[in-house]
Amino acid sequence: MWNTGIILKKNQKKGSLTSEMKKENIALIGFMGAGKSAVSQYIQDRFGYEKAEIDQLIMQKEGMPITEIFAKHGEGYFRDCESREILRLGSRKKTVISCGGGAVIRKENVENLKKTSRIILLTASPETILKRVKHSTDRPILNGNMNVEYIGELMEKRQALYQAAADFEVITDGKTIAAVSREIMERISKME
Ligand code: S3P
Repeated sequence: MWNTGIILKKNQKKGSLTSEMKKENIALIGFMGAGKSAVSQYIQDRFGYEKAEIDQLIMQKEGMPITEIFAKHGEGYFRDCESREILRLGSRKKTVISCGGGAVIRKENVENLKKTSRIILLTASPETILKRVKHSTDRPILNGNMNVEYIGELMEKRQALYQAAADFEVITDGKTIAAVSREIMERISKME
């Protein structure tokens, strides 16, 4: 887990940045371990957004962990579940949506996210990603592939999709969750 840090300024109220913003969704995309879940949690806690974690929604509906969905039904089935959840989230307001790292693979997902959300790409180097995910066993794509070379290659393959989908990118290496979250909220407020 990376350090959350506390960087709200002395007189700043929780969520004060959001009052100037349009009530719109924020979709966080990026590679596994880029910080989407941690940052979406922070945005929910500090900026008054609802939170939707696509992987969590899928696990709840399917009644089993992601690794089991992959093992029992295959990746294609998981991707169908992912697309269905993204479509459903179109009715949400002021929600921060944490997408799985592969959500950008399907064009329709990006198109559906774009309808209601600013899409923010979180990035980190393969080395940073490995540090963050190496003890986890709940990512079927990385099980048996837990090394910088594999992570770097898959990231490279997906890079163009991530870049094309995103409104902007936030580099997370060496930053706290709080700093990344504030950077996102400040940049979004300037886009309004
Ligand atoms: C995946 C990323 C995972 C999860 C699934 C597939 C991917 O989500 O959706 O294991 O293809 O990159 P996180 O990015 O939240 O780990």
